Amino acid sequence: MKTSALIDDGPGAPARPSNTPYSYSVREVSKIFSGRNGQVDALRDVSFDFDEGSFTCIVGPSGCGKSTLLRILGGLETATYGSVDIRLPESRVPQSAFVFQEHGVFPWFDVIENVAFGQRMAGVGKREREETASRWISEVGLSGFEHAYPHQLSGGMRQRIAIARAFATGSPALLMDEPLGALDAQTRMLMQEQLVRLWEVERKTVVLVTHSIEEALLLGDRIIVMSARPGRIKEVIDVPFGRPRDVSIEGTVQFAEMRQSIWESLRDEVRASMRFS
Ligand SMILES: Nc1ncnc2c1ncn2[C@@H]1O[C@H](COP(=O)(O)OP(=O)(O)O)[C@@H](O)[C@H]1O
Ligand SMILES: [Mg+2]
Repeated sequence: MKTSALIDDGPGAPARPSNTPYSYSVREVSKIFSGRNGQVDALRDVSFDFDEGSFTCIVGPSGCGKSTLLRILGGLETATYGSVDIRLPESRVPQSAFVFQEHGVFPWFDVIENVAFGQRMAGVGKREREETASRWISEVGLSGFEHAYPHQLSGGMRQRIAIARAFATGSPALLMDEPLGALDAQTRMLMQEQLVRLWEVERKTVVLVTHSIEEALLLGDRIIVMSARPGRIKEVIDVPFGRPRDVSIEGTVQFAEMRQSIWESLRDEVRASMRFS
């Protein structure tokens, strides 16, 4: 298995110059939460470059800081130590779009209002945002449901609304936290296919957290395996499958070998995390 070297410029090293405008450069990031029951060391010394147009998947045991890392990338949380350098063109809103596992849609808005929400917040006019929203609704296969409300739709359809909204914001970066985690197996497979296809057209910078090794192999170009808490980068794996990617790779020997090898890396971490929880 090809494993790319971890980026380790040493503590305090300046972020490297980059020609990639939509990238995150994470340097020596640690996160410590202070609460009533003392401190939680959530992340330790995480350094990584999320390059423009790259699709990175993060796997790791529960509680190892995956969501925290994503929230730090998206500016919803600050690092206790270290730095995150976000490179975006000046003309863009320096903002990334989030997709969460659940509760990502507003129950009081219909589909089109949900999908257009990000643009509405950005001050885009009604006609333009509805045009864009309609296009994304069609891309995720929800045409005809523009005026349905979330409670009238299945879980898979609601997640498609959240994904369409993230794409519709026009943000160059998508941060997805187990976006397909709550779906049944078949819907999940369909959504994986859809995400592969959308990403291959749009080429956004995507960071996706998943607990599924298969999903990481199907979708990503690189997989970060994180250690048990405090979360560190244990291994970075380059996914050898090319683009356009077909989900039939799941049936190949190479896929099975990679899945096994990643699981071997992850297994010790999952064990370690279970000792503490
Ligand atoms: N706001 C918070 N306050 C205190 N502890 C937190 C907070 N958010 C997360 N944590 C703790 O930090 C650790 C990492 O959490 P999280 O990033 O959600 O892990 P993961 O997404 O990998 O399951 C966990 O132990 C969690 O309880
Ligand atoms: Mg999480």
